[in-house]
Amino acid sequence: MTRRDPAVSNRLIIAIDGPSGAGKSTAGRALAKKLGYVFLDTGAMYRALALKALRAGVTLDAEDELAELARRTRIELAGNGDLVTLDGEDVSGAIRTREVSAAASRVSTHPKVRRLMVSRQQELGRPGGVVLDGRDVGTVVFPDADLKFYLDADARRRAERRHAELAAAGVASDVDAIEREIRARDHADSTRPDSPLTRAPDAVYLDSTVLGAEEVVQRMATAVQEKLRA
Ligand code: DC
Repeated sequence: MTRRDPAVSNRLIIAIDGPSGAGKSTAGRALAKKLGYVFLDTGAMYRALALKALRAGVTLDAEDELAELARRTRIELAGNGDLVTLDGEDVSGAIRTREVSAAASRVSTHPKVRRLMVSRQQELGRPGGVVLDGRDVGTVVFPDADLKFYLDADARRRAERRHAELAAAGVASDVDAIEREIRARDHADSTRPDSPLTRAPDAVYLDSTVLGAEEVVQRMATAVQEKLRA
């Protein structure tokens, strides 16, 4: 893969990986805004495809059918990650349900689906000046990313945050059930054979169990400054 020289362009490729609910997209979005970079939420792409599969009645185990569906699907990310469109339809809210979360986790296990998504993510990110968040961004999509972060948090804390977000949106939920779902997704995402969630050895490790959201972004921004000075 040919890449621009980051020292010349200052347009870095920044990868943020970690389990669901650790605050990757909040941090990634804020970091991208601070730097004037594009934010790419790669999970939103798997979510959009999962939504399409659910609507079309395609079974979530049918790899070839899902890959074919992915080939015929136009997914666009805009507005610093706030807007996700599926074949032109705004699905930004529709992809955030618990049903789609579970479906996206299953859809993303299929190597043929991943290959397509990864190549689209590479196309979008290659020019640089980009913050990507996902599970395999620093290991598979851009193993030579200029800067990698692994953002972690313990499962209970992630469940409590999700529970509070739902409550703020007026949706009642059971924090124990959310924690069970989070643990199940962690297990599925980190044990799948193709591109499991793993921490790249050269990723900066941050733990949002103990760090507040602003502190996470601040540490990331400091690492970027150090990288640009290096
Ligand atoms: O980050 P998220 O929760 O929106 O991701 C939804 C699902 O997609 C999640 O179960 C894992 C999967 N995913 C992936 O396999 N690879 C990525 N780069 C991003 C997400």
